[in-house]
Formats: sequence, structure tokens, C-alpha cells
Amino acid sequence: MSYFDNAATSYPKPDEVYSVLIDTMKNKGGNPGRGSHRMAIDAFRAVYETRVKLAKLFNIDEPLRIAFTQNATVSLNFAIKGTLEKGDHVVTTSLEHNSVLRPLFSMEDRKGVELTVVETDSQGRISLDDIDNAVRKNTRAIVITHASNLTGTVIPLEKVGKIAKKHDLLFVVDASQSAGVIEIDVEDMNIDILCFTGHKSLFGPQGTGGIYLREGVEIEPLMEGGSGSHSKLRRQPKEMPDLLECGTLNAPAIAALGAGVDFIIKTGMENIRRHENELTETFIKGLRTIEGIKIYGPETGERTPVVAINIWDVDPSEVSSLLEEEYDIAVRPGMHCAPLAHRSIGTYETGAVRFSFGYFNKMEEILHAVESIREIANFYGDKG
Ligand SMILES: Cc1ncc(COP(=O)(O)O)c(C=O)c1O
Repeated sequence: MSYFDNAATSYPKPDEVYSVLIDTMKNKGGNPGRGSHRMAIDAFRAVYETRVKLAKLFNIDEPLRIAFTQNATVSLNFAIKGTLEKGDHVVTTSLEHNSVLRPLFSMEDRKGVELTVVETDSQGRISLDDIDNAVRKNTRAIVITHASNLTGTVIPLEKVGKIAKKHDLLFVVDASQSAGVIEIDVEDMNIDILCFTGHKSLFGPQGTGGIYLREGVEIEPLMEGGSGSHSKLRRQPKEMPDLLECGTLNAPAIAALGAGVDFIIKTGMENIRRHENELTETFIKGLRTIEGIKIYGPETGERTPVVAINIWDVDPSEVSSLLEEEYDIAVRPGMHCAPLAHRSIGTYETGAVRFSFGYFNKMEEILHAVESIREIANFYGDKG
């Protein structure tokens, strides 16, 4: 199968990810941070090593400022619900995933948080001036994705970070679609809270993710429980990562995530990005030669290897089923958990078919996809 659903989760993973997962389960099977015997210490070390690798990747000077979570959604819930209070105003964008939008809407509905959603243009591009102009007296935070999972738009985080700094705002970033494939530097970008998922471009197993919290940023933990430390305290310890890590961590998966980061470093993020760009450019160029194809997303500038399309006015689910059944191609149709982004690009009613490429995709697969789409478009064009 040609797997073009890497924006949902990357597949396959590097071989090392599978082997470290099994090795950790078999040989380091203690509970990390919950014992002084060798296997518990080995598991603790494996988790810590992944913290160190991620800290290096994102230019975080203290690895213990990263807490592991199940995914970006949990991290974003921590970031949004743990920091905002009644009367706070937040600036966000229409590109956001429901993992940002729903916690924000929930805070708006239940806690009296005010919200401005900055709209993109029809190509999914954001104006920095619109972000700047949305800031009010009571603005507390900018919450923004680094890259859209629908349009592939890449947000210039450094510039948004400057706006946040200028107004003394909390800068919260959803790096789900960028971590591992686009450079992230929490210092240069002035990021206060970085939320990432482990199972996409970081090549980790599903059920991994994390949150980086800048020193001095106050957050209320949404969950409390065993931390393996300060057991006599009535409440969750205040120190990171224990503040946001309660209960047993998924040590084998976190260790495997570390192997994913090693793979990125060994391969070179720029090489991964170059390959994915080549695939994406070839795909888009090929599609432009076919009648009846609507391609969404920015026509110029940086984008991730995510391309949403429609073929004539054929239902995206029908296209996706045809692609799988007739051509052995896996894509994702529908709304992609990004309803406002669909509204911005004009596909709120119809949805779209999303192709998302990854490092392990080959050029032949792209050419096969283009020819498959040509056949489908010709078929419906003739019918139509
Ligand atoms: C932009 C964006 N944010 C957040 C998420 C949520 O990631 P997870 O499902 O790993 O929590 C996704 C996943 O599709 C995403 O694309």
C-alpha cells in the first residue's frame, strides 16, 4: 500500500523504533521513577535520555522542563486549561486543529475566557498584522499551530513570537505537524509552551507526546496523583516534570520515541525535509496537468508535505475509497478535525481528500498517485 496519511500518524517507523520498544519492554521493564532496583532505574534512564534528545532538538536548555503526555491533545489541554482564567483574552487562528479549538471553546463557554479567531485567506495564509491587531488590553496568550494539518501552511513562528514578546503574552505553540521536520527553537522563537505529539514526524509510537514549559510559566495541573516523588505532599509537586506527569509513564514508547529522534538527527532534518518537498512538488506539479482537480493550500512559500484536493465535485469519501480499492493508496477524506480551516478555504460543506507524505514514501508512489488521480478525474469528467 502507498501510505499517504502521515499527517495522521507516520508509517512505517524507522526500524530502530520498533526494536527499542521491544527491548525496553523486555529488558528495562521496571516502573520509571518508582523504585531503586536496576530495572526501574534503567527505565527511568531510558525516559530521561529521550527528554535530553528532545531538549536538544528544540533547543531547550533544561530537559526536565519537558513533561511526557499521551499526545499533543493532552498537552494542549494542559496548556490551555491550566493557564487561562476568567476575563483572559486569547488570539488564535482558523487553521487550528480541534485539539486547540475545543479546549479554547470550552474555556470560552465555561470559564468566561474571550477568544479572537484570526481568519486565513482562501489559500490558508495568515496575516501577521491581523494577529498583531487582534491583541487587546486583556490578551493573555497567543495559541497557534506551527503548521496546518489541512493546508500545509507553515506559520513563521519567529515573527509571531516577536508579537507575543512585544505585548508580553504567553506564546503557546502546537507543533504536532512540524516537530521533527521543521526547525523549532524555543529560544529564538520565544515559545513559552510547546505542545508536541510523538507519533507523527518524530517517528515515535502512538500514545507519546509532550509539553515544554518555560521556567517561570505558571500552570495548574489538570490531573494529580502518584509522581514517584514527594509522596508526603498533599498536592502534586510543583517541579517539572512531576507537576504534569502523574501515574506511570509509557516508558517503552518514550524510549522508542527517543530512537525516532535519533533517526532524525542521523538522517538530518534538512534531508528529510528536502525529500518530502520533492515528493510534494512533484505531486502538485502532476496534479496541475489534470482537468477537474482543485488543489488547496498556499500556492507560494513554505508548506509541509500535506496536500488537500478535490476532484470535480466527487464526494471525498468516494475518492478515498476508490484510491484504496482500485489503486492501493491510503489517504484521509473529510474534515480532518479542522473545521474552521475548511471554512477558510471553502470546503466546509464538502470536505476534501488529504494526501500527506512522509520520509519513507518513494517518488514512484507519487507518480502512481498522480496517474491514479488522472484516471479518476477522467472517469468523472467523462461522466459529467
Ligand atoms: C495540527 C494538529 N494539532 C493537534 C493534533 C493532535 O495530535 P494527537 O492526536 O497526537 O493528540 C493533530 C493531529 O492530527 C494535528 O494535526
